[in-house]
Amino acid sequence: MSIEFSEFKDQAKKVLKINFDGYKIDRVERRTKSLMNRHDIQDFSECLELIKSDDQFRDAYLNHFTINTSEFFRNPKNFNFLEKKIFPKLFAEKRKVRIWSAPCSNGSEPYTLAIILKELNIRSSSFEIVASDLDKTILKEAKKAVYKESSIKNVPKKLLNKYFEKIDKRNYQLSPEIKSQVSFEQRDLINKDFADNWDLILSRNFFIYLTKEMKDQLIKKFINVLNEEGYLFLGNTEYIFNPKKYGLEKLYQSFYIYR
Ligand SMILES: C[S@@+](CC[C@H](N)C(=O)[O-])C[C@H]1O[C@@H](n2cnc3c(N)ncnc32)[C@H](O)[C@@H]1O
Repeated sequence: MSIEFSEFKDQAKKVLKINFDGYKIDRVERRTKSLMNRHDIQDFSECLELIKSDDQFRDAYLNHFTINTSEFFRNPKNFNFLEKKIFPKLFAEKRKVRIWSAPCSNGSEPYTLAIILKELNIRSSSFEIVASDLDKTILKEAKKAVYKESSIKNVPKKLLNKYFEKIDKRNYQLSPEIKSQVSFEQRDLINKDFADNWDLILSRNFFIYLTKEMKDQLIKKFINVLNEEGYLFLGNTEYIFNPKKYGLEKLYQSFYIYR
């Protein structure tokens, strides 16, 4: 007998160790159904059985659920603001600037930061870039750092020639020097505690998938680990409606400062 989505969700949660309750639930259901369609799965019971018994399907489910879309210089205006206004101030004030990209998906975002810092002639001993994501598969890709044209379409030509090598018809390999500036780790932003002492946290295009309550909790968790005068950089369509409530001040589009 088939089960309802709510039961599927409760049981799958235990196997996958994901707290589905933090995500907008309609979206989780839609993603589950679209994967079921793709694999010709009849109902939620069958889907649950596969999640329990088939490692490959379990990975496919997680992969489908997490949505890994990302690209270099995503929303270029914001990265320009970071380069021109925020980095000069941060590096003038700090001996070592700690940056966390959470979640980082395929690495385009943290590597964009490394490219910008290289172009600003900032010594690599003056910063640390940590990048994390829930999805192990995408983290493997991030470490490989091989990208299709769609991921690098916003990279200015000069930087493309300097930091990428075309390795075949479709793929570009990022330079080892830039790769070496980012360290990756697996981290669940919903269930786990965070390391502290960050000067800049990028959490972009993640809040959009979460419930209001989870977004509120996460902002509080980020604020707890941000240094004073540290920055929070969100995605283009993500806003904090009452930043003062968290001790934040809006600086520009998706940038907030903690003071
Ligand atoms: C759309 S990508 C955003 C990537 C990048 N920040 C950007 O804006 O281009 C969303 C990422 O969130 C990750 N994710 C989903 N749930 C997560 C969780 N609970 N903890 C950490 N990462 C999660 C997904 O694996 C995916 O890589």
